[in-house]
Amino acid sequence: MQQKRKLLKGGIIVTDNQMYKSDLLIEGEKILQIAEDIDSTELTAAQQIIDVSGKLIMPGVIDPHTHFQLRSRNTITADDFARGSISAACGGVTTFIDYSDHLPGLSLKEAVNRRIAEARDQTVLDYTLHQTITHFDNQVSQQLDELLELGINSIKIFTTYRREGYMIPRTEWEQVFHRLRELQILPTVHAEDDELVVRREAEYGAKDQCSPEMHPKIRPAESEALAVEEIGNLGKKVGLPVYIAHLSSQVGCQALQRVKRAGGQIYAETTPHYLLLTEDKVLEPEAQQFIMTPPLRTTQDRQALWEGLRLGEIQLVATDHCSFTLEQKLADDNCLTILPGIPGSETMLPLIHHFGVGQGLFDYPQLVKILSTSAAKIFGLYPEKGSLLPGTDADIVVFDPVKSVVLCTEMLHSAAGYTPFDGIELTGYPIMTILRGEIIAREGEFCGQTGYGKFLKSSVSSLYCVE
Ligand code: URP
Ligand code: ZN
Repeated sequence: MQQKRKLLKGGIIVTDNQMYKSDLLIEGEKILQIAEDIDSTELTAAQQIIDVSGKLIMPGVIDPHTHFQLRSRNTITADDFARGSISAACGGVTTFIDYSDHLPGLSLKEAVNRRIAEARDQTVLDYTLHQTITHFDNQVSQQLDELLELGINSIKIFTTYRREGYMIPRTEWEQVFHRLRELQILPTVHAEDDELVVRREAEYGAKDQCSPEMHPKIRPAESEALAVEEIGNLGKKVGLPVYIAHLSSQVGCQALQRVKRAGGQIYAETTPHYLLLTEDKVLEPEAQQFIMTPPLRTTQDRQALWEGLRLGEIQLVATDHCSFTLEQKLADDNCLTILPGIPGSETMLPLIHHFGVGQGLFDYPQLVKILSTSAAKIFGLYPEKGSLLPGTDADIVVFDPVKSVVLCTEMLHSAAGYTPFDGIELTGYPIMTILRGEIIAREGEFCGQTGYGKFLKSSVSSLYCVE
């Protein structure tokens, strides 16, 4: 029996290196053919022809940094795997990469399996995981082998949050890096210099100056630059590629450039909030909703990040989606303890399209690279994800480049119940999301099935294959 087919007719195909008018035929879960004017007469009545004239057909967006259903700081995020992935799907995302925590009493393998069990039957999108490592010894070293068997090829380390128990002790960094190099596992790094942050916390804390507006002073851009440089240089010494999570500042970009000029292999993501929002948000009433780590920075920082993205020094945009309700955020007004994080997966594509392509900073193929292909390659999911190659998963976002939208909470699907991008006027919005051949969102509304998403085993990062 012939598998279900869907013909996307009259669209404009956009990949990371080209853009051209063509039809696209899906069979079952896979892309079968991309060609001009595919004959539709063989499709039976039960099969679908979808008119996408004038619309862009892009690989589904990959958000490689989410925290759905995160248990942290004695609470849990508003978005569980179902709600978070539904919200992302409505914004054109088809794959996300979340985190498995380094849990006391559990091996890394057990932690991953527990996390997969939480996502199973819940997520509507395909996903894989980064494994967090908060300490390193012989046992953890051996457990890293098991991670590879499970299909986890990236880990997360923190150079800060010693007090919260996330920071991996400095004395262990080099050993971890050697082991990661041996196994070809990619380190992703939350880079802030803990000593500087702890000093500032003590200084501001002693003066009782911990309101939200103090957050950027307590966690200054310099702390990011220090950590990026230290970690980058260590990577260079060990011969290990290093990936910096949520780069937020101009001095962070400059540190990245210095490491690169010195021969280090260093890569980075930034986020829509560091590209679009500035620290004056923490002067507003209910400023808690704009608290995340690292903090929002200045206009100059924003511009440096856009430039880094344009030049390819920053490889991609991710969201660090970590949603708490306003009630959760407003329960505290001490910036050292306000729950950090904001929602963002659903709004990433239209924001980066409007302010990146729309403002002439880069073209559509670069948009695809920044929001899909680079993440697929770096996190070992390519070409099944991040491409439109025949034979690979039919993960597609159909994008209307002229649709006008004003972002507001009511149109979005996160359980956070607010968006930090409220009131922003945009041109261009996703109108259909297809995951492995199934339409899961249409015109901003979810129409898929909870639990349809599946865990993806990743392969070695493309960053290990760079000459
Ligand atoms: O503020 C951020 N980045 N939140 C994500 C989770 C965390 O605790 O860092
Ligand atoms: Zn994060």
